[in-house]
Amino acid sequence: MPPSCDIGVPVGQDALTGGPFGFDPWALYSAGDLTNPNLLLAGVIGQGKSALAKSLAMRSITAGRSVYVPGDPKGEWAPVAAAVGGTVVRLGPGLLARLNPLDAQDGPEPHGPRVRLLAAVAALTVHRELGAAEQGALDAALATAERRRSTPTIGDVLSALASPDASSARCDGVRVEDRSADGRDLAHGLRRLVRGDLAGLFDEPSTERLDPHAPMVVLDLSRLGSDEDALALAMTCASAWLEGALLASNAKRWVIYDEAWRVLRHVALVRRMQSQWKLSRAHGIANLMVLHRLSDLDAIGQHGSEARSLAQGLLADCSTRVIYRQESDQLSGTAGALGLTRPERDLLPVLPRGTGLWKMPHRTHVVHHVLHPAEVDVVDTDSAMRDHTEHEDR
Ligand SMILES: Nc1ncnc2c1ncn2[C@@H]1O[C@H](COP(=O)(O)OP(=O)(O)OP(=O)(O)O)[C@@H](O)[C@H]1O
Ligand SMILES: [Mg+2]
Repeated sequence: MPPSCDIGVPVGQDALTGGPFGFDPWALYSAGDLTNPNLLLAGVIGQGKSALAKSLAMRSITAGRSVYVPGDPKGEWAPVAAAVGGTVVRLGPGLLARLNPLDAQDGPEPHGPRVRLLAAVAALTVHRELGAAEQGALDAALATAERRRSTPTIGDVLSALASPDASSARCDGVRVEDRSADGRDLAHGLRRLVRGDLAGLFDEPSTERLDPHAPMVVLDLSRLGSDEDALALAMTCASAWLEGALLASNAKRWVIYDEAWRVLRHVALVRRMQSQWKLSRAHGIANLMVLHRLSDLDAIGQHGSEARSLAQGLLADCSTRVIYRQESDQLSGTAGALGLTRPERDLLPVLPRGTGLWKMPHRTHVVHHVLHPAEVDVVDTDSAMRDHTEHEDR
């Protein structure tokens, strides 16, 4: 008997057999069909990647799973959350939501996770890796801020960086003026979150809590516009929430990174994603990462760099790869990376919208994702384009 392909939530039709195709990463992982539950989805613009991710999300919720979208830069997941009774947190200038990334880790030992988060945030704001002395300055500043307030804000850390505590510097064998110099760049970087263009979003007590029991939580970042730094910072801060929720619940959950190619440019964020993915299996999480092409992963860092190997690690950590239509210049790279046969490779440039090559460790399917009539409006991202054309046609 062939391996079961109709277990799990329905996805659509197997183009080769004509039969139904279903997918459930948890069931397949338990059955030994997958080495991990994560899924990579790649395809050119407008082929139905987000539609597939949204259908999988909605149908999985019906099957009792939950879904977390830690960053929705286009603001297209709110209708999905509305359809399933989920929650949308909208973050951006002029909106009311505030998110203090340091309060997500209020557990018994919050200092370690907080300092790792702050280091990732600081690295994003200064656009480089932190040195050892800078790490020391950040650690000491956080410890000072924590002595003053049990749940500090980034503003508290900034004050402690600007005027370091003399006795803790002495304990660490550092002159206070050296510690102040060590923290100077970080203070400049973090100031962007307190007084710069992102002021208010991350430097005040949180107004929102991630409900670990909500069927779906979407972090809508569309109001941040096309500012890639702001997007990466928001997703880094939100990742602290995610970690908190991971520890709070073992519910089976999809974590969906739609438009992941935009955030993969930031090494600090990729590093956090990778460490979360390592935790995922223990906590019943299946990650879904959406790219345009596999070579998006090669755009990260230099050849041989830590960043590049982190990105390649994310690909290796996805046992299921779903490839939608690819441009002809991507064929040999994709075929090489995924071990495609010649007929599979030749299929990639001619796949119609909604149809993808599903590569799993022991089998391959060509699947047409069938939208349910009730899903059509929820996943429609073409309406703006269509309305515009209709308007022009008149
Ligand atoms: N299986 C399908 N059947 C019918 N229509 C579909 C299907 N999948 C997607 N569509 C339609 O195609 C349009 C584009 O889909 P979608 O936004 O999911 O593409 P995408 O690959 O995510 O694009 P982008 O790269 O721009 O994010 C949507 O309006 C959607 O309704
Ligand atoms: Mg999309």
